[in-house]
This record gives sequence, structure tokens and C-alpha cells, in this order.
Amino acid sequence: MSFEKVCKINDIPEDGVIGVEIGETPVAVVRTGDGVYALHDVCSHAEVTLSEGEVYDHTLECWLHGSCFDVRTGKSTGPPATKPVPVYRVKIEGDDVLVSLDQEP
Ligand code: FES
Repeated sequence: MSFEKVCKINDIPEDGVIGVEIGETPVAVVRTGDGVYALHDVCSHAEVTLSEGEVYDHTLECWLHGSCFDVRTGKSTGPPATKPVPVYRVKIEGDDVLVSLDQEP
């Protein structure tokens, strides 16, 4: 499993999100409560950028129609989106945030 450094932990506001890219893949990196989470940075409803949305607790809310996604699972917790978004593994090394695009087996 290969991890890539995407940012420093302090680059992400507390209870906030930033958008990064690994190769051609857009990734939303969320910092909330106890940890840092990474999701595919495309809403499963109408394919807009999730990293422009708002973070509440462990939820990332899409800015366009208000669907909410659990950042731990990628599951939609509120309509209109019904499909999940992929989540990626995160590793913290010192101040560095690393993400792996490899999916769970
Ligand atoms: S585009 Fe995200 S909820 Fe519609």
C-alpha cells in the first residue's frame, strides 16, 4: 500500500476541509474532532467538489444541494445523494498527512 504526503496537518482548518490531488485523483482531506479523513472529492449526486462544503462533527456537507456524507465511511447520511463516496486511508507521520488511494481489499 503506497501512501503519498498531501499536506501538513495544520494546513487543514479545525473542523474544516481542503482539496488536494494525488496524480489526477481529487481528494478532500477533512480534519474533525479526533482525526483526519480523506474522501474522493466528488459528490456522488451531481459531481461537484465536496471540499468546498462544510464540516460538522464527522459530516461533510455538499455545498450544492446539502447532501451529507460521513467522513469515516463515505456513506450519504442525507438526501439527495444516495450513493457513498470512496474513502481513502490516512496516515499521520509527525506533522505530515499521508493518503493512500488503495482501496480496502
Ligand atoms: S451535488 Fe452534492 S448534493 Fe447535489
